[in-house]
Amino acid sequence: NQGALWVSAADGRIKGWDWAAHDDTGFAGLMTRNGWIDVDSDLNGQESKITVKIVTASEERNEFFFPGFIDTHIHAPQYPNAGLFGSSTLLDWLETYTFPVESGFGTQPDNEKGHQLATKATETPLPAQTIYNQVISRTLAHGTTCASYFATIHIPATNALASLCKKHGQRAFIGRVCMDNPDFCPKYYRDTSAEDSLSATKATIAHINAIDPTGSLINPILTPRFAPSCTRPSLEALGKLAASYSPPLHIQTHIAENTNEITLVNDLFPEAGSYTTVYDKYDLLTPRTILAHAVHLSAEEKALIAKRDAKISHCPASNSALGSGIAPVRSFLDLGITVGLGTDVSGGYSPSILEAARQACLASRLLGHTGTFEKGFECGHSHSHGKDGLQKEMEDEAARVKLSVPESLYLATRGGAAVVDMADDIGGFDLGMLWDVQLIQLGGVKGLQESPLDGDYGDGLVDLVRSGPVGNVDLFGTETWAEKVQKWVWGGDDRNVKAVWVAGRLVHTRG
Ligand code: GUN
Ligand code: FE
Repeated sequence: NQGALWVSAADGRIKGWDWAAHDDTGFAGLMTRNGWIDVDSDLNGQESKITVKIVTASEERNEFFFPGFIDTHIHAPQYPNAGLFGSSTLLDWLETYTFPVESGFGTQPDNEKGHQLATKATETPLPAQTIYNQVISRTLAHGTTCASYFATIHIPATNALASLCKKHGQRAFIGRVCMDNPDFCPKYYRDTSAEDSLSATKATIAHINAIDPTGSLINPILTPRFAPSCTRPSLEALGKLAASYSPPLHIQTHIAENTNEITLVNDLFPEAGSYTTVYDKYDLLTPRTILAHAVHLSAEEKALIAKRDAKISHCPASNSALGSGIAPVRSFLDLGITVGLGTDVSGGYSPSILEAARQACLASRLLGHTGTFEKGFECGHSHSHGKDGLQKEMEDEAARVKLSVPESLYLATRGGAAVVDMADDIGGFDLGMLWDVQLIQLGGVKGLQESPLDGDYGDGLVDLVRSGPVGNVDLFGTETWAEKVQKWVWGGDDRNVKAVWVAGRLVHTRG
């Protein structure tokens, strides 16, 4: 009762498997076996053929492979601030928490050329090495096989992030943050001019191309932080730079996260008409653009995003933590917009995409209780219905906008893959896809043992902490695979991530 899976060591892609019914759950792309999984080789790319034996044997181990998570929006330098935001909202949070921590990734003061032009490895500040190592290790431990990172404005630290992702084996998009607008960015943390900003960005692209010339693991991504942080010449230059590459460069930014931020954009760009048209005007709204948040877009803006095929990174943990609002994900999906999930560390308090999936489900369940939901609904529908009919329609719509567990997992994997324009390569177990995978292990009642404390506390006690095989999710032997996955999403964490591979290379094991 064995199956085998072949992953080519040459390119880390799935070449074949020889068992049937690999998806017995109804979850697209999920591969589970009602048995235990024996990793036959070290999967480190040294073998010409890698075999993973799937043994459906007597023992119930409650393990399954799952596609690696894709974090479509995370700020690596903000990791020290994860969980620190008090009761702030976006604009005061940036000023109080974010710009101070990011500015610390600059070079030593003895570099007379200033941060933009420092390129020697020796100029890389120590905090960057330490913090970037930590955030990469931590996200890998949570099953994130691919991340789209915002770095800081600094060249050496941004280059260090790219090099460290390569060393750890995490697939990554690396963006030097562009911040040249003196009307918004603080004096202590900004690019000195649009020209310097552009040349600094080019320097980081050159480094990334040097360490990974084919872009097999690490790729650059143009990163105008958000409209308020950039001057018009800077936005224009980035749009042109993206288009000068074939295929065009990836782009990431923030959009319509917070109502005060939108007011600020309207003040700074009164000619544009909307937040979305600011980006569109400078050719930054492309099929390879990741727009984070998108909480407060107008119908016209959503239509333009759909028309341009730009992508949305949904960051529900961050949107709740900073009180930004609830992004109407169903309305994006209705329009055919591609959506993935982002942790948005440290607007988001957790580096876990499983947490983001959970929060996406929760936020969608609250959406029908908000004033904006009700208002939009009345405008759209009240003309043709009486009061009771309207109430019923509203309830139906509130139910329809809820995201299911399978949908949230889709966003975390295949959705994210499409957001980073890698839908053919990652996010599932299709033949030919890269083996970017996490091995999930859940608990089981069979692991429970009589507690040594029985004598003290009475018969029948079990010591969950000592004997529970793994994590927070207890199974009772009655669950279907679909139910096991639901329990994982609602109660799981990094203790359930037993091993992680990227392109067939083992990049994390739980010690
Ligand atoms: N808008 C501009 N910068 C940021 C940032 O660092 N995080 C979030 N969440 N929103 C932003
Ligand atoms: Fe962000």
